[in-house]
Amino acid sequence: MIRTPLGDRLREIAEKDRLRLHMPGHKGRGGVLMPYDITEIPGADNLHDPQDVIAESQQMIAACYGAKASRLLVGGTTAGILAVLLAGAGPEGRVLIPTNAHRSVFAALHIGRLTGHFIDPVFETFPRFPKVVTVETVEKALDQDPDIQGMILTSPTYYGTASDVAAIAAALHRRGKWLAVDEAHGAHLAFWHGGPPSAVACGADAAVSSTHKILGAPTMGSVLLMNSARIDIEKVDDWLSQIESSSPSYLLMAGIEKAVAEGAEQSEGVFETVGAAHDRAVPLFSHPEHRLFLYGGPPETYDRSKWLFGVRDGSGLELAKTLRERFGLYFEIETPDTLLAMTGIGTMAADLDAFIAAMQSVDGETNVQPASALADLPAGRFNQTLPFWQAVDQPRTPCPLAKAAGRIAGQMLIPYPPGVPLALPGDRLTPETVGMLAEMDAQGLEIMGVEDGRIQIIK
Ligand SMILES: Cc1ncc(COP(=O)(O)O)c(C=O)c1O
Repeated sequence: MIRTPLGDRLREIAEKDRLRLHMPGHKGRGGVLMPYDITEIPGADNLHDPQDVIAESQQMIAACYGAKASRLLVGGTTAGILAVLLAGAGPEGRVLIPTNAHRSVFAALHIGRLTGHFIDPVFETFPRFPKVVTVETVEKALDQDPDIQGMILTSPTYYGTASDVAAIAAALHRRGKWLAVDEAHGAHLAFWHGGPPSAVACGADAAVSSTHKILGAPTMGSVLLMNSARIDIEKVDDWLSQIESSSPSYLLMAGIEKAVAEGAEQSEGVFETVGAAHDRAVPLFSHPEHRLFLYGGPPETYDRSKWLFGVRDGSGLELAKTLRERFGLYFEIETPDTLLAMTGIGTMAADLDAFIAAMQSVDGETNVQPASALADLPAGRFNQTLPFWQAVDQPRTPCPLAKAAGRIAGQMLIPYPPGVPLALPGDRLTPETVGMLAEMDAQGLEIMGVEDGRIQIIK
């Protein structure tokens, strides 16, 4: 059994007869977890200056992931991404950013006055989603822009597809630059040999993994894995102590520790079951004239813990409602042409059988085929007249889309799907970008930043 130093210490402290004259106010009374919900009292160490059980816990986590060091994150992967980018490139540095980046990456641009060099991932056409970033795209950007200091890469994606992280890390390292991986959806990969390799195994300099998304940590519990000296860990710690609460939850920290120990011990068994069920299900949902299509791929590049269904006739939202009402089934993502189900360390074989049967009950023939492939997103659409961080603070005014060409965007404009920005604050809007937004709006797609045919532009 992997030892859990922080959890063990919390139990020891809870068993002591104490008069609690410190925070929190519940004094350990009022619920089964409350006795363990303590603060930085003697023996409990301090997340912001760990010397004792928190330091040991972080060493245990680093060892499980094969990283040089780890940090417990009580502000989710969001906090880790902010800290790594601000430490790696701040202030006012340049970062290579694929456009399917999480919003915490854009927040880092704002806070650290960083400049993004944006590249597009390759898109899957059905269902529509950003699939992978190629090493060729990365090399081209690095050749064009030698001032880039490092890159943040999302792999695996929300949808389960993994980029060639090892090749991308090598391309950056050859030029003396760092790679940080947003591994929010891959906290289990280090512990399961039936999926894509983990970011640390691929040589990433840092990885941020949401142990709460697929392993068993309570929500908001993530880990930061540091794997080289290319990003200064002291700077990362400085940022974390500014970003995260000065009263980090011991329940959350012990929950992360337990999730990692349990993940290291149990992932192989659980995800083997999930992966085998996925392999069995793919042929069941592969009929070209049926409504449902289950996405799959080779285990080295596709994480089969994600079950991504394409819905050929665009009835995804109605299907999700029917499945909720009939079977109590709740998806992670539902759109007209996509239903994404997430499994996790708590998933059981019986859940998978019930899920497959439920999906089969709503599958059937359709003669409606998916809309034509996603048109290429306009190249050169990020033509920043103002850096992102400056543009977001400018006064804005509404403008009808029909009149927006040539004006400067005041907000991110993001159609769903595929969920990547067509424009960022500070971009001078090209006729191609505005034309695509107008077409998507007319098709009824949800576009973040477009309301009643209007967008916000900088005054
Ligand atoms: C790809 C990706 N990165 C980062 C995050 C942020 O993770 P957290 O919710 O742990 O802050 C998310 C959350 O959904 C995500 O999907």
